[in-house]
Amino acid sequence: LEVNHILIQGGAGYRPLRTAWDVALKPFQDPRHPQAKRLKAAVTAYADELITLVEQGGRTGVADLSAQFSRPLPLMVASHLLGFPGSQGDDALMDMWRVLDAGPDAEAALERLLATLAELAALKLEKPGDDFPSYLLAAHPDLSLDHLARELFMLLGMTSDHVGILISNTVVEVISGEGSVRASLSAGMVRETMNRVVMRKPPLVNFVPRFAARDTPLGDYTIRAGDPVWVSPGAAHADPLFADHVASGTTISTRAHLSWGAGPRQCPARELASAVAAAGVGRLFERFDYLDLALPADQLPWRSSPFMRGLRSLPVHYDLASAPPPRPWAEEPAPGVAEDVLPDPSARQRSSLWRYLTGLIRGGR
Ligand code: HEM
Repeated sequence: LEVNHILIQGGAGYRPLRTAWDVALKPFQDPRHPQAKRLKAAVTAYADELITLVEQGGRTGVADLSAQFSRPLPLMVASHLLGFPGSQGDDALMDMWRVLDAGPDAEAALERLLATLAELAALKLEKPGDDFPSYLLAAHPDLSLDHLARELFMLLGMTSDHVGILISNTVVEVISGEGSVRASLSAGMVRETMNRVVMRKPPLVNFVPRFAARDTPLGDYTIRAGDPVWVSPGAAHADPLFADHVASGTTISTRAHLSWGAGPRQCPARELASAVAAAGVGRLFERFDYLDLALPADQLPWRSSPFMRGLRSLPVHYDLASAPPPRPWAEEPAPGVAEDVLPDPSARQRSSLWRYLTGLIRGGR
């Protein structure tokens, strides 16, 4: 919260910044745009890479799907969005984890990360590419390099943490939920399943603390101008008046909830986050013939963050399908989409993220 960026920013600087974010995200969020197709292909290819790494521990075994899939996948996506050259992004990605875990090495990691993102910002200013930093700069040419780096930090943090949590929460819901959840997934209703997950377990349980701009009546109370307000979708969604309408058996689909915020400051990346999570979850259930929780659902370890409802780990028993199904774009080539979404394999092997993931491989039941 000490780093000022769009989520925190108020005043006159806010509107142009939000407009620039909307413009810069559009190519990745409009399903007809080549960038969005390329992103989807990248997510599936990264998911395949991660699952192949799990397979090294055996075609049947035990894995931590949080550490080995849900956390690294969005980080790889963030690196793609940021247009990091080579595998330079990987160290920055590992630093993002250190910052989010808020351990003793978080402060040094934050400094390194902001310095790396400032270097990336300078590179994109000099040599723009087809990536988020270049699009943001084009939409807001007045951004200083320092400010751009802070916006990139925001993107990296949001993408790596929130999307990973959404993936894990959806996987738990599908594995441990009633039969209807699995059935809707096999009917291709990944997005609807995720919508229900974010209603029942909003990934962002509490928004950023804000201050009331003016006196605001709310039920029997008045929030005075200047009073701090911490809006909690986690609490709002637990209200029986709301919760009773989202019972698991219902056939009614609704987007009338607070999981993505509401009003002018609602999440600008809702489509991006949902598309990435849906492609990841979809590929996971295509590649695994069998997935079951290795712990009862009510004993899964949750993080203690005031903001996020996310798992510390997601231990599962698995069987992998013998032959990976073809990647979607292999059947239906889309313009601008090629196998070039994956980085050079030797750079991958050398990267710190990959060494970390290789260290997590384990087998046996
Ligand atoms: C599961 C994933 C995500 C969830 C549940 C989520 C949810 C939210 C919510 C509830 C807000 C409103 C916060 C408030 O009013 O205080 C918000 C704001 C925001 N989100 Fe997301 N988000 C997700 C992913 C992302 C991703 C991947 C990005 C970037 C690529 C992103 C970028 C932003 C930005 C820039 C804002 C601030 C908007 C503003 O103040 O104008 N979000 N998000």
